[in-house]
Amino acid sequence: MESFQKSILLPLILTALLPGLAFCYSITKGPSNATVLAGSEARFNCTVSAGWKVLIWLSKGSPVLTVTSSQGSVETTDRFTSRNYTSGDEFTSELIIHNTQLSDTGRIECSIQQPSENNFAFLFVQVNGSLLIKNSTLTVKENQTVEIVCEALGWAPAPDISWMTNDSVIDKSSYVNQQSPGSNGLHNALSTLTLTPTDSEVLTCLADIEALPSPQNASVTLIFDNSAAENEYSEDNRSTWVIVVAVVLSFLGIVLLIVVIVVAVRCCLKRRGSNYQNEIRKVSAEKKKDGDLDDRQRSGSENLGYIPEELWNTEQSPRLVSLPPKVSKISGPVDNLHISSVPKVRPQRRTDYPISPKKIRNVTLV
Ligand SMILES: *[C@@H]1O[C@H](CO)[C@@H](O)[C@H](O)[C@H]1NC(C)=O
Ligand SMILES: *[C@@H]1O[C@H](CO)[C@@H](O)[C@H](O)[C@H]1NC(C)=O
Ligand SMILES: *[C@@H]1O[C@H](CO)[C@@H](O)[C@H](O)[C@H]1NC(C)=O
Ligand SMILES: *[C@@H]1O[C@H](CO)[C@@H](O)[C@H](O)[C@H]1NC(C)=O
Ligand SMILES: *[C@@H]1O[C@H](CO)[C@@H](O)[C@H](O)[C@H]1NC(C)=O
Ligand SMILES: *[C@@H]1O[C@H](CO)[C@@H](O)[C@H](O)[C@H]1NC(C)=O
Ligand SMILES: *[C@@H]1O[C@H](CO)[C@@H](O)[C@H](O)[C@H]1NC(C)=O
Ligand SMILES: *[C@@H]1O[C@H](CO)[C@@H](O)[C@H](O)[C@H]1NC(C)=O
Repeated sequence: MESFQKSILLPLILTALLPGLAFCYSITKGPSNATVLAGSEARFNCTVSAGWKVLIWLSKGSPVLTVTSSQGSVETTDRFTSRNYTSGDEFTSELIIHNTQLSDTGRIECSIQQPSENNFAFLFVQVNGSLLIKNSTLTVKENQTVEIVCEALGWAPAPDISWMTNDSVIDKSSYVNQQSPGSNGLHNALSTLTLTPTDSEVLTCLADIEALPSPQNASVTLIFDNSAAENEYSEDNRSTWVIVVAVVLSFLGIVLLIVVIVVAVRCCLKRRGSNYQNEIRKVSAEKKKDGDLDDRQRSGSENLGYIPEELWNTEQSPRLVSLPPKVSKISGPVDNLHISSVPKVRPQRRTDYPISPKKIRNVTLV
């Protein structure tokens, strides 16, 4: 009885278990996140255990490709194709998305029409935009701080921009990055590098996004203008020249000033000497004149000394005592008017005066 029951139960259990075992297939390895450049391919693997019947690929929730264990893959568009690999009793379906677009970015799902975990991943489509340094060539002088602008246009996402000089990385503190939205969901970025070069160098702006195998780069050759130092040197020479010229000119100026002063002093001395001599001459002349004047004055005084003559006249006047005093007084001034001719006149007078008294005397005699 017991063995009969066991013989009945075992097949029942087996028949009960077999369907469960038959449907107990699953995704052993789901797809992985993928980041690709727009225009390139994107591939996703989905590995399922034996017993699978159907495998459906969905992009952003929409079925794009179906693979059945019996009929293989059913491709409806050229953009979505698949390959398959078999390893043991595991089957791997590889989805290939051709010519990826930015709009393909999203969830990629592998469905076996059974509840399963780890059956989805994400596709990231990125856009490799343009990159340029706006300054084509730079000539920088010593101590000159320059700003070099690197511009990234039409990227998705906005790239990380970094800088290199020759082969060494420039510290992030030397540049500032800005991002701005562009058209069609793309992004622009601007990096401004500020530096004070001390040598000629090749500056490279690097723009990186995950999908790029290596960062896109743009370079500019910065020429350190040594002529600035030469100019400085020449300026030094100029300054020394200026100093030399200034010293020489000032020396010459002093010499010239001394010469001028000496000449002026000599001239003054000559003039003074001439003036002195002239003045001496004048003085002597004046002295002579003065002497003449003195002589004249003396003669004048001597003329005054005529008073004795007048006195002499007056001495004669006592002879004219009989004449009215007014007449002698009037004749006195008249005589003074003819001082110069006094000596000539006087004898006449002398003759006149004695005559009239004689006449008077004659009259009296008559
Ligand atoms: C895949 O991408 C999603 C979304 O960014 C992220 O959450 C997840 O951790 C990524 N998976 C792996 C394995 O990196
Ligand atoms: C998918 O799996 C196959 C076989 O292991 C491998 O050659 C291929 O590179 C895988 N593809 C991806 C996208 O991982
Ligand atoms: C696997 O790929 C081969 C050709 O590469 C194809 O003939 C076959 O149908 C595929 N199998 C499945 C299950 O898709
Ligand atoms: C990215 O774009 C630049 C400029 O168009 C190009 O030189 C470079 O080859 C591109 N990189 C890739 C990986 O396509
Ligand atoms: C540059 O700066 C240094 C230090 O301040 C100074 O010695 C030098 O003269 C400067 N050079 C020029 C060309 O200005
Ligand atoms: C480099 O180009 C940017 C943008 O054209 C400009 O603002 C900047 O002054 C330039 N720098 C030099 C050193 O010429
Ligand atoms: C960069 O390289 C150039 C030659 O390519 C060299 O003349 C210059 O000195 C280098 N500059 C620096 C900062 O190393
Ligand atoms: C710049 O890119 C070119 C190819 O586009 C590459 O050969 C070169 O090594 C890159 N330079 C740097 C500094 O990354």
